[in-house]
Amino acid sequence: MRVERTRRLRGSGTKASSRAHSTTAADLIPASPSLAALQMAARKCKACDLWRNATQAVFGEGRTPARVMFVGEQPGDSEDKTGHPFVGPAGKLLDEVLVEVGIDRADVFVTNVVKHFKWVAAQRGKRRIHKKPRQSEIEACRPWLEAELQVVRPEVLVCLGASAAQALLGKDFRVTRERGILMKSHLALYIMATTHPASVLRAPDSEAREQQRREFVRDLRKVADLIHAGSASAA
Ligand code: URA
Ligand code: SF4
Repeated sequence: MRVERTRRLRGSGTKASSRAHSTTAADLIPASPSLAALQMAARKCKACDLWRNATQAVFGEGRTPARVMFVGEQPGDSEDKTGHPFVGPAGKLLDEVLVEVGIDRADVFVTNVVKHFKWVAAQRGKRRIHKKPRQSEIEACRPWLEAELQVVRPEVLVCLGASAAQALLGKDFRVTRERGILMKSHLALYIMATTHPASVLRAPDSEAREQQRREFVRDLRKVADLIHAGSASAA
């Protein structure tokens, strides 16, 4: 069982990333791990280069198992400093919307497709600007996400933004076209992609921001309805 799983996870890394980094993330994953064991193991991960400029690995947090698992792109500046996912402005917005649609924060698990903060220095000042992770980095980190899925066993898996959606639903998936649709999945009973709360916050003006926020609320309300109807666990 263990051998089989390791082989499958290794197979999901790209050749380039496993050549460059002799210890893959899959090599660090203990057999039948608890969330705490995974969190601890991920601190040692150097399976791609993202650990070099980050303060620490930011692992997923929340209930295990959890009915809903949210997957973002990567930790941001506040997450990198504190070591906890979704604690910065995007996390605050997510929390707010969860309250609004009636999903209990205690019922969810939140994580990211890559566990280290990727950034570039702002041209002026000390700000660290988020940089999108590459496909090879997402692949290198995938064993951690798969291990999280195994301990969280969510009924609904929610991809926040394009990086998460493309990592979990395929490169051709377009959030703009296919957002808010609950689909059956082998990863959870249902999977849905929606916008990333950070992109709501980046909207150019308050009108656009309100509009995007409403759409985000509408998508998450579908998740709330599903878990409240109990249909997710009965399906
Ligand atoms: N954005 C993400 O995708 N993840 C976080 O944890 C915070 C911001
Ligand atoms: Fe390991 Fe993921 Fe960090 Fe890369 S981003 S070093 S794969 S934990």
